[in-house]
Amino acid sequence: MLSFTIVLFAGFSTVSASYGELFQQFNSSTFELMRFLTHGPGKGVAYNWLAALVDDFGSRQVGSENLEKAIDFTVSRLKSEGFHNVHTQTVPNLPHWRRGDDSVTLIEPRRHRFNILAIDGSPPGDVTGEAVVVNSFAEIANYNISGKIVVIVEKWSGYGITAKYRRAANKEVVKGALGILVKSVTPFSIGLPHTGSGSRGSSLPSACMTIEEAEMLERMFKRGRKIVIRMHITSRDVGKVSSRNTVFEITGSTYPSEIVLLSAHMDSWDVGQGAIDDGGGMAVAWHALNVIKHLAERDRRFRPKRTLRAVFWTAEEQGYFGSKIYYNNGSTKGAEKFFFVSESDQGAFRPSNWNSVLRFQGNEFQMKKLDEIVKIINNYGIPLSVLESTDQGDIGFWAKEGVPSVSYEPDKGANYYFYFHHTEADYMTIFNDGDLEYTTAIFAALAHIIGNMDDWN
Ligand SMILES: *[C@@H]1O[C@H](CO)[C@@H](O)[C@H](O)[C@H]1NC(C)=O
Ligand SMILES: *[C@@H]1O[C@H](CO)[C@@H](O)[C@H](O)[C@H]1NC(C)=O
Ligand SMILES: *[C@@H]1O[C@H](CO)[C@@H](O)[C@H](O)[C@H]1NC(C)=O
Repeated sequence: MLSFTIVLFAGFSTVSASYGELFQQFNSSTFELMRFLTHGPGKGVAYNWLAALVDDFGSRQVGSENLEKAIDFTVSRLKSEGFHNVHTQTVPNLPHWRRGDDSVTLIEPRRHRFNILAIDGSPPGDVTGEAVVVNSFAEIANYNISGKIVVIVEKWSGYGITAKYRRAANKEVVKGALGILVKSVTPFSIGLPHTGSGSRGSSLPSACMTIEEAEMLERMFKRGRKIVIRMHITSRDVGKVSSRNTVFEITGSTYPSEIVLLSAHMDSWDVGQGAIDDGGGMAVAWHALNVIKHLAERDRRFRPKRTLRAVFWTAEEQGYFGSKIYYNNGSTKGAEKFFFVSESDQGAFRPSNWNSVLRFQGNEFQMKKLDEIVKIINNYGIPLSVLESTDQGDIGFWAKEGVPSVSYEPDKGANYYFYFHHTEADYMTIFNDGDLEYTTAIFAALAHIIGNMDDWN
């Protein structure tokens, strides 16, 4: 992989003849913008901004005081920084699930307390039963699981495919079981369980286990050992709660009703400090707008013609509640037109190789334009490409409607990001020098060019 990267970098200096109109128009200003962020006064700013939020307010689960205090703090910072149209939008009627002091214990063949995290929506329960250990949903049919605890030790096949096992408690195939344990959805572990959504609506207590302990149970089961487990889950739903989306912008000078959207989500699970999921995404959207605002005050080339807007969604983790309300009711529908939508929610890591992509949904003309923009970013030394994909997270509502959309997935977003995802280890420590700077550079470049270019065709 390394030699491949070097070869492509070496090619940059020789291909300038193929650059198009956008390159002529924007290479120079975009280069300055990215340089300001990665080697100039912009260095370290997004990191410090995020650290002040996640260190002082911590994890931000929907229904927590942390989350609402973090939103208040963010709003007051945005106002004092002089952004336009700073406000919040209420998102009512959200599921409010509170984690209890849950325990899952091996009773036979020996006593051992497992390191687990209950799955969002799990009801409370205190059940003891023999375990049946399987590797897939299909294997469950080989056993009579009535009155048993089903332990699923699935293989990691990328997040999208593997995460369906975290939703096992709601599947027809586990009907009759006493409880569900699922190997955490991650390719790697040093003894931490990962939480996440998946059990809302089920009557079965359910939790995620560490890879290490799940694989131990698998080995025991294959040796024919009788395994007895007690699940004592006290996590529960405590009614409904509301939260808020956070909105701010730089209003466009020429086309204020055309919106170029940068987004990320404010809420997190209740473990760790929500630094990579999705604090990094917020820091990057904020700093991209912040630097453009700063440069625009000195140099009119940076003054956006369209409105550059950022939204920090709430209740993403429970299933895109914040973005859905905003899509349906948040913007001044009819009067505003979404020109471009984007999000960073798979790790705000500096691209280190050509597996780094902008997952893109849109038409052929838009794809061509985006390719041109990405060439400007590549020319700065950032390996990145455009990949057609309908996997668009919070911005999927606009993508389905035909608004060109981009979700950032750096090379580390495919596996490495998931080592920490939804765990106690989601801390600032994961970010290295350059991660937030280069990711901000990418979003600042997109916002600057798309906010000022003529049109998509
Ligand atoms: C792009 O702009 C930068 C900054 O002005 C300049 O140094 C660089 O040579 C330009 N790239 C090309 C290929 O013209
Ligand atoms: C499955 O196990 C339950 C509980 O032990 C038992 O009552 C039931 O008859 C079994 N079903 C079949 C099809 O063997
Ligand atoms: C939707 O928008 C209308 C009109 O602005 C407002 O009165 C209403 O409270 C909004 N509803 C929600 C759920 O935000």
